[in-house]
Amino acid sequence: MKKKITAKVLKQEELTNGIYSLYLEVEDFADAHSGQFVMIYPGAGENLLGRPISLCEVSGDRRIIRLVYRVAGAGTYRISHLKEKETVQVLGPLGNGYDMEIADKAQTPILMGGGIGIPPMLQLAKDIYAVSGRKPIVLLGYRDRNLFLADCFEETAQVIIATEDGSVGTKGNVMDALREKALNPDMICACGPMPMLRAIKNYAVESDIKAYISLEERMACGVGACLGCVTKTAHIDDHSKVNNARVCTEGPVFEAREVLP
Ligand SMILES: Cc1cc2nc3c(=O)[nH]c(=O)nc-3n(C[C@H](O)[C@H](O)[C@H](O)COP(=O)(O)OP(=O)(O)OC[C@H]3O[C@@H](n4cnc5c(N)ncnc54)[C@H](O)[C@@H]3O)c2cc1C
Ligand code: FES
Repeated sequence: MKKKITAKVLKQEELTNGIYSLYLEVEDFADAHSGQFVMIYPGAGENLLGRPISLCEVSGDRRIIRLVYRVAGAGTYRISHLKEKETVQVLGPLGNGYDMEIADKAQTPILMGGGIGIPPMLQLAKDIYAVSGRKPIVLLGYRDRNLFLADCFEETAQVIIATEDGSVGTKGNVMDALREKALNPDMICACGPMPMLRAIKNYAVESDIKAYISLEERMACGVGACLGCVTKTAHIDDHSKVNNARVCTEGPVFEAREVLP
């Protein structure tokens, strides 16, 4: 059973409007891998639950984690005010993450991140590059020219950008970029808003390829105890004996056919 640890803030900065990058020194994240997340506790009262945030990068001998998040409400607002040398409670790494064996077997894996689904793609690109020596293609979808993290991918990935307003790269979303560039992936890993994930599932079914998508659900415990994060699945789950899976423990990464209607 994982225990909360006290993490030290090494650096926090605003990357672009309301999107923050937070580096934390943690005790030991040796077993952490891409697609996993942490619960970070904004504090101030025991009724403030942890907030699930994906691992964007794990570095410094697996003792430094980077979280990139959007200020969405009270919890992330408090987190955005953490200053260097302050401490914060963290639980993790949590969840299943992306399966590196599957990613390594793919010849032309394509990673897709939309909006605040972009951060987990960074560690995934680094992991795929580390195991295969190949730079995966990464499609990043933004609203407008206020890009964030795109430059961080350059060492380990080939980056293609789409913006909804067409101010940078392809006009449209990551699927529009996939079509414009005539790309033919044999596997997709993705994180982003639900309409984007549905479009990826449809494409994967039509093209007869696998798509591993990271789901977002509201979470309370993050460790499988409260059932607050269940999602409908195509198959019966061993734990609940119904067509459900807990996003925090069986996920957040699922093969798209397993979870989306
Ligand atoms: C596995 C996972 C990974 C995530 N990774 C990131 C990330 O890397 N960057 C990022 O910006 N956001 C990420 N999110 C979304 C992030 O957790 C929410 O934006 C955040 O919890 C909002 O908290 P809040 O207190 O600011 O907002 P409020 O809306 O005030 O939150 C109130 C409560 O609802 C829960 N909640 C609200 N929105 C969400 C949501 N979308 N998903 C889950 N719980 C929610 C909060 O945990 C809290 O308990 C992730 C969510 C999940 C499930
Ligand atoms: S958040 Fe409690 S079971 Fe998933």
